[in-house]
Amino acid sequence: MCGIVGYTGPRQVSRILVEGLKRLEYRGYDSAGIAVQKDVAQAGEPITLIKKTGKIAELRKAVPKDLPGHCGIGHTRWATHGVVNDVNAHPHLDGSGKIAIVHNGIIENYVALKEMLEKEGTVFRSDTDSEVIAHLISYHYDGDLELAVKASLKHLKGTYGIACIHADEPGRIVGARNGSPLVIGVGDGEMLLASDVTAMLAHTKRVVYLNDGEVVSMLPHEFKVSDGDDRVLDPKIDHVAWELGAIEKEGYSCYMEKEIFEQPDSIARALSGRMDFEYGSSKLGGLDLTKKELHAIERVRVIAAGTSWHAGLVGCQLMESVARLPATAELASELRYRNPVVEPNSVYFAVSQSGETADTLYAMREIQRRGSTVLGICNVVGSTIARESAGGVYVHSGPEIAVASTKAFTSQLAAFYLLALLFARMHDMSHHEGVEFLGRLKDVPDLVRGALAQRDTIQAIAKKYSHAKDFLFLGRGLLYPIALEGALKLKEISYVHAEGYASGEIKHGPIALVSPDTPSLFLVPNDYLREKTISNMKEIKARGGPVIAVADEGDELVASIADDYIPVPRTHALFQPFTMVPPLQLFAYFIALELGRDVDQPRNLAKSVTVE
Ligand code: M6R
Repeated sequence: MCGIVGYTGPRQVSRILVEGLKRLEYRGYDSAGIAVQKDVAQAGEPITLIKKTGKIAELRKAVPKDLPGHCGIGHTRWATHGVVNDVNAHPHLDGSGKIAIVHNGIIENYVALKEMLEKEGTVFRSDTDSEVIAHLISYHYDGDLELAVKASLKHLKGTYGIACIHADEPGRIVGARNGSPLVIGVGDGEMLLASDVTAMLAHTKRVVYLNDGEVVSMLPHEFKVSDGDDRVLDPKIDHVAWELGAIEKEGYSCYMEKEIFEQPDSIARALSGRMDFEYGSSKLGGLDLTKKELHAIERVRVIAAGTSWHAGLVGCQLMESVARLPATAELASELRYRNPVVEPNSVYFAVSQSGETADTLYAMREIQRRGSTVLGICNVVGSTIARESAGGVYVHSGPEIAVASTKAFTSQLAAFYLLALLFARMHDMSHHEGVEFLGRLKDVPDLVRGALAQRDTIQAIAKKYSHAKDFLFLGRGLLYPIALEGALKLKEISYVHAEGYASGEIKHGPIALVSPDTPSLFLVPNDYLREKTISNMKEIKARGGPVIAVADEGDELVASIADDYIPVPRTHALFQPFTMVPPLQLFAYFIALELGRDVDQPRNLAKSVTVE
């Protein structure tokens, strides 16, 4: 949700900033801007500021190719306060034009601060909450940017990741974090500061993750991190494992398409080294729990948002049916503001691709405050949720750039299958059953490959139905959360209305929506729920509603009832979520293409939602 990048070093800063912002565009894309410090010889002159509404391509056009300067900051915005226009875009300057800031997060007390500063004669240019930070720093500035930032932070309420520069302090960038991620990139004679490592991967893989309350002051050859009490810290430098290629499109037309087709590999990575055939169980050392602690767990709770919540819903059904542990998945945004009962011997899993989702993070902290253990299931290494949880499972999907989550979802599923097996083997599951379960899990990457091979069939069906204004996605049991996920994918990238429903529920209301213009997409389980699902399909057909069915290959009966049929590889019913979700991802993708949507960066959305 908004992206920050800063650079100080020997190279032309404007290029590095624009390039970095392009990498961060998925975090927000309604406007962008850069602020570049004049070089030493011209110190004291105001900063060069360029801001543009729209995507980074617009900013790129506006930035002169030979813009001089070696230190600067940039920002790509997802609007919270103030409409989308050039003025509200970041960076923001103070009154003198010497201080520039970029900000991610929300300043909750900006109205009071603005009133105070206006009384002092400050003139505001934008409608944003962020601009107040520039003026506040200016108010406190007395020749030392770091001190002015620290003094200003004491007055800010809310969340922030900030980067700022001052025209009189050449080569220096000061950053601060509270609730919005900031990472330092340690280069060779150059330093970077960004909200996310993807912005710096082309320059360095040595990074320092700032913690809440920390401030960094950097020059090309050095950086200093201090905490809220002004103590200088000795932070650990981490190494980022992601390769640059992982954040390129590599021949695909967009990131979402690439990420959908990467799934056989990303799932294999999530499983790699974790399947223990000898003991018919899984090895998840990152949980950091002793056998005794694992045995003491009596119930599982999942907290998550969006697609990660859907993975959690599948995970909880597995915990119940495979491991015989009571389990429920909660929407993080709901849980936090209830007064949740935290039962003893419960373990909570915070599931998040980005590891930065504010709703999930705050819900997790609420649960921790009440004394329960929260484990993370995250993709982004070093993310806040990963760092604040007691242990967990990294899903190793690699960077997910498209706003619509696809490969992270199937890797989260893989993590839940491993967890369910681990718990099951501690209770009722036999060694033989464990080995059989693992045998099926091992086949999942190939099953997904088989489902993706239906690409052309799915494209043709998507084209046929691309005129529809409403869709129903229907599934039962483990396939109910998959139906929710299919509907979410379609909504978010094609802007077509879709409802995910439990197939058995349609007769309780939604069947009233059925008409020749409202297609129903059924996910057909291959167990005892198949016949019931077929009855539900017939109910829709009887009312003139078109039916698209995703079912096992060779299911002649389903093929004969449905108007359109997407065959997927046959597997045990327990593993059908893996074969059913890729067709839904592709269906949404092809409809969005037909409708000419921006698949990777759909309107109004941002990849990682760091505000509530
Ligand atoms: O990074 P997280 O997994 O915590 O994100 C949660 C949701 O914001 C996310 O899954 C969102 O629903 C996606 N855009 C869905 O494709």
